[in-house]
Amino acid sequence: MTKYWTVDPEGITGQSTDLYKIEEAGRLLAAGEIIAFPTETVYGLGADATNTAAVEAVFVAKGRPSDNPLIVHIADWEQLDGLVAEVSDAARRLMARFWPGPLTLVLPAWPGAVSPRVTAGLATVAVRMPAHPVAQALIRAAGCPVAAPSGNRSGRPSPTLAAHVREDLDGRIAGLVDGGPTGVGLESTVVEVVGDRVHVLRPGGVTADQLRAAVPDCTVDDYGVEPDHETKSGQQATSVTSIPKSPGIKYTHYAPRGEMTVVRRQEDNSPQLPASSHKDPVREWIQSQVNEARNRGERTGVLSMQERASHYDADLVIGCGGPDDLETAAHLLYAALRQFDEQGIASIWAEAYPVDGIGTALMNRMVKAAGGRVVTVSP
Ligand code: TXA
Ligand code: MG
Repeated sequence: MTKYWTVDPEGITGQSTDLYKIEEAGRLLAAGEIIAFPTETVYGLGADATNTAAVEAVFVAKGRPSDNPLIVHIADWEQLDGLVAEVSDAARRLMARFWPGPLTLVLPAWPGAVSPRVTAGLATVAVRMPAHPVAQALIRAAGCPVAAPSGNRSGRPSPTLAAHVREDLDGRIAGLVDGGPTGVGLESTVVEVVGDRVHVLRPGGVTADQLRAAVPDCTVDDYGVEPDHETKSGQQATSVTSIPKSPGIKYTHYAPRGEMTVVRRQEDNSPQLPASSHKDPVREWIQSQVNEARNRGERTGVLSMQERASHYDADLVIGCGGPDDLETAAHLLYAALRQFDEQGIASIWAEAYPVDGIGTALMNRMVKAAGGRVVTVSP
């Protein structure tokens, strides 16, 4: 049985009932139970990071491969002591600027500080201080560092609503604190810091440009996608598979059940798609694929820029942000992927977003959701 608490993130003050609920969840966490909770990125599934049995229960509930390490969440600066062996100047600058917030730092672990199941036996530990008031209150109530992957079944899109967690994990976890929709909608940026250099392992809520304002020497592998070899070619299109380089990437991530394909224009990675146009190769190609799939009897879906959604005819068309509103697209992406599942959509085509700002993380997740299927359409 999973216990559910609903709280108002704005209302966690003093002696409020909401705080009482979070304290109850915190006691369960401290006692070794696994509890899902909102953060400003996505919902997490938390366990006491020092308790191996609790951490193991997280892997079991999610069906997560055991060699993929977890992020440790803290609420106060003092919790860093005893968790990590060393914080370089560059790492300290990043923390000062972005914590609390959607940035995870991979740092040398203090030996024995957390269960070896958290770090998957690595000498490093990933640490983050979330900005969400419910997450902070829960970590403080538990009184321990909280190891938490995203609160989805492994391979599914991360949860941005409590309902998504319930869908995936009801009956498999001790509790869920429902604090409403999450903010960013994509996971935190994961970085490693080597000397004065920052390398982005997973693009996320904090963009590379923002990182560079604190630490100028910051590298990121494109959007984690390397278009390297052709898998098939179409009439006016070529497909590429990609090898994302962020950790844990050997596994399919964030994926809807249907087969998804990301479609972009050839010239660049940042297509400024015309709002409406008679000669729009991306729209024309997607619509032709939809029509073919329909003729095969498949249910079809299109994920498009908001202002272009009305140009498509498919079983489910979801408009999601746009080139000038990438934040909204990021916020809505995972919910959209789950909607395609709910409607039994077998084939999904998604318009590429500009790889810029949060668009880097957005495209990284979309390409993974597509299992690397990216089609480039020539004009
Ligand atoms: O926004 C987020 O980061 C969310 C919320 C709940 O905080 N959490 C999250 O956790 O996305 P998860 O487990 O889905 O992703 C953790 C990522 C994985 O890519 C994992 O490989 C990487 O962090 N990671 C964890 N520990 C690491 C380490 N010691 N070295 C390198 N990568 C690490
Ligand atoms: Mg995850």
